[in-house]
Amino acid sequence: MKIRLEDTAVLPIRILGDPVLREPAAQVDAITDEIISLAAAMFRTMYEAPGIGLAAPQVGVGLRLICVDAGAEAKLSDGLCVVNPRITAAAGEEAGEEGCLSIPGVTGMVMRATHVTVEGLTLDGEALRADFEGLPARIFQHEIDHLDGILFIDYLPRLKRDLIKRRFRKRTLSQAS
Ligand code: NI
Repeated sequence: MKIRLEDTAVLPIRILGDPVLREPAAQVDAITDEIISLAAAMFRTMYEAPGIGLAAPQVGVGLRLICVDAGAEAKLSDGLCVVNPRITAAAGEEAGEEGCLSIPGVTGMVMRATHVTVEGLTLDGEALRADFEGLPARIFQHEIDHLDGILFIDYLPRLKRDLIKRRFRKRTLSQAS
């Protein structure tokens, strides 16, 4: 499915401290026009940010939908948006630096599988099963974590994680006042 990015809105990205980022997302029951519009808007939002992956909870929608920019290694054709994605096989282990559009200005080293098999649905409603390695594999693991309310900072040493949370709590408070 071709997404016409010029037709879609850029959505506000939810920031650490927003409860929606910690709630498990619900399965998508049917790929309606709303889901396709949401995917298009997420894809545009990801590129405007700019980022290389985005999960629906990051734009305040508690549904299992992710967009991934797997760059030159892309094996999917429909803007790399996957509905109800699951990792069905994983192998290898490697530490790598991650960041997140919902936690701006923060990076950290996270252990991830080097090879994953992702299953889900395309926006056309077709079953999808694809293998990824390296950076795309890491992005899929990071984005699918978002659907379970897990953020990459959860894998960081506790001291560093607490420091980050405190910094964002202050930021939320100062924005509210
Ligand atoms: Ni993220």
